Amino acid sequence: MNTQFDVSAVRSDFPILDRLIRGNNRLVYLDSGATSQKPVSVLDAEREFYTKHNAAAHRGAHQLAEEATELFEGAREKVATFLGAKSEAIVFTKSATESINLVAYSLGNALPGSKFHIKPGDRIVVSEMEHHANLIPWQELAKRTGAELVWFSVDPNGRLDLSNISDLINEKTKVVALTHQSNVLGTINPINEIAKQVRKVGAFFVLDACQSVPHFAVQVSELDIDFMAFSGHKMLAPTGVGVLWGRQELLDEMPPFLTGGSMIETVSMESATYLPAPKRFEAGVPNMAQVVGLGAAVDYLNKLGMENIHNHEIQLTKLAIDGLSQIKGLQIIGPTNLEMRGGVVSFAIEGVHPHDLGQALDQYGIAVRTGHHCAWPLIKKFKVVATTRASLYLYNNTADIEALVSGVERARDYFVGR
Ligand code: ALA
Repeated sequence: MNTQFDVSAVRSDFPILDRLIRGNNRLVYLDSGATSQKPVSVLDAEREFYTKHNAAAHRGAHQLAEEATELFEGAREKVATFLGAKSEAIVFTKSATESINLVAYSLGNALPGSKFHIKPGDRIVVSEMEHHANLIPWQELAKRTGAELVWFSVDPNGRLDLSNISDLINEKTKVVALTHQSNVLGTINPINEIAKQVRKVGAFFVLDACQSVPHFAVQVSELDIDFMAFSGHKMLAPTGVGVLWGRQELLDEMPPFLTGGSMIETVSMESATYLPAPKRFEAGVPNMAQVVGLGAAVDYLNKLGMENIHNHEIQLTKLAIDGLSQIKGLQIIGPTNLEMRGGVVSFAIEGVHPHDLGQALDQYGIAVRTGHHCAWPLIKKFKVVATTRASLYLYNNTADIEALVSGVERARDYFVGR
């Protein structure tokens, strides 16, 4: 393989990859779409925060509080630079799910007359390939406001069907919320092509970037969108930290979601006024150590280079698709060509329940995800009960893919015979 970084050196940064699983099997971790493993530098950054600098950021006049604030805001700078954004437009939340709910609740809180107000007759557009985190908040917003929820279909190749784009995204449309890369199919959606129609009608474009930001270079300045959500734990960082990027002029005006300490400008017994973003949306003492860990994760990704990471994953994806496609009765669920595609490979095997397959793979030390992957409508669309999903990251190597292919082959033979 022609990878631009030394994968074995990378692997040595992730101690968990040395574990033996279910007896004496080498761990083959192919579930990074669910959560990624963490390099030592991220674990050290988090530990160091607690051992040397722990205090409540933005509160207190003592040295530790100052250091905690500097580290927290330093991480914001790193994330902003990583995305080609301004740091004021980076809001830290606890998860991508919270980031998307923040936008949905904020719009839902807007009063009549505000440009953010959603009312009966307005339209919210999603797609059949959304993760529940980018579907259910919009279902609920539609219910609360009387707006209509409509969606793009997915074609049999796992691509969005854009043939009715101007019917779906019309003058009634207020919000378009789509995934950048499907967590089930690996499909990367043509965001800027869709954005042209979103701009024509003046809707807000919300991007779920959970499966894109960790895997390839995403620059908000190159995407014609309004909001973008992703989580830290899928990009080498600790759990408990999510990011919302938004256009500054929108964030500064939107109604808050969670209210409380540190997001206020003035407070009386009757009411309060709110700071601009990002603090407007960061009520309460934030997850500081996790944010600092996210900063260290960004450093790690930058050191390898996002383009190198993407190329590495694409080479492995090709190996996985080529190998798995040879297995009798196996159907890849999602695009089989590598164009506009990431390192997530879902599949189903005739006569083998994915849960049985997942359990068999686990016995060989191979960790994959099975089920509906929090995208149940999409799974139903492909008329399967569930899929088995291998999701790759920068620390996977060709041996992992070979183990996957031979493990699936062996399990298939066990369940349905040769
Ligand atoms: N959203 C994560 C996944 O797709 C949990 O597995």
